[in-house]
Amino acid sequence: MQMMVNWNGTLMPLSEARIPVFDHAYLYGDGLFEGIRLYNRRIFKLDEHLKRLYNGCRHLDIQGMIPYDELKMRIVDTVEASGAEDAYIRVSVSRGTGIGLNPQNIDQTPNVMIAITRLALYPPEWYESGLNVVTVSLRVTAPDALNPRIKSIGRYVANIQAKMEANRRGAGEGLMLNAQGYVAEATGDNLFIVQDGVLRTPHPSCGILRGITRQTVIEIARDFGIPVYEDWLTLHDVYNADEAFLTGTAAEIIPMVRLDEREIGEGRPGDLTLRIIREFHKRTREIGVLVAAR
Ligand SMILES: Cc1ncc(COP(=O)(O)O)c(C=O)c1O
Repeated sequence: MQMMVNWNGTLMPLSEARIPVFDHAYLYGDGLFEGIRLYNRRIFKLDEHLKRLYNGCRHLDIQGMIPYDELKMRIVDTVEASGAEDAYIRVSVSRGTGIGLNPQNIDQTPNVMIAITRLALYPPEWYESGLNVVTVSLRVTAPDALNPRIKSIGRYVANIQAKMEANRRGAGEGLMLNAQGYVAEATGDNLFIVQDGVLRTPHPSCGILRGITRQTVIEIARDFGIPVYEDWLTLHDVYNADEAFLTGTAAEIIPMVRLDEREIGEGRPGDLTLRIIREFHKRTREIGVLVAAR
């Protein structure tokens, strides 16, 4: 696989890609992104990712975004040019180019970048043994500050700080609460718990990104006949869960076996978690937009 970049419609190898220093996302975090995975030459849930991206553009009032089908075509072309079978696809959109906060004073032509690369969020052995997580002190941003429902670039400053705090405290991941103290999400993943045979996950109004992997897990659970509740959860619920796992495009699905030095369930990946992971891997290889081999 060759790491390829598509910058505003022009294809180039990653080593040749450059961004303007006054790009508004580079200067102020004023943009949005999507992380998408390619499995077996199929782009998993591409439309779901693109819908979330375009909804975010509308929310942030990003003007002059390229048409949906044009972006979709560029993504497929860039994947094909890379020759990848499995990859991580990063799509990044910034408001435009120019210095100063006021968008009226900049060139409001969005810069649209697509990169084909690899990304492993956690070491492979953690997928077997399960993840050790701590609750971090930093809260998710309140919806009346920067709405966590949109995958805005700037919001990740907080998530990076949270991740660093978790790592400093010897954990692989950090769990973030919202301002009211309810459980929201991990730094780049959504949370599920298993309690008495049902799945529970924080409600979108708790300050989470409505994850596409999260939605896939909800679909799998419903197909298995397992009830799923979107709820307001506290740490008490997570400490007393039978099983827990995290979901995200980069993370995929990873069992979570410890939180704040307490074992979750039996302290090892649970049976239902493992069953859902197996089904997830099956679906990722079978569905999605097929790209041509080079
Ligand atoms: C903060 C946050 N929550 C949840 C997720 C999971 O979302 P998805 O499954 O769409 O990748 C991500 C990853 O994109 C994220 O950054």
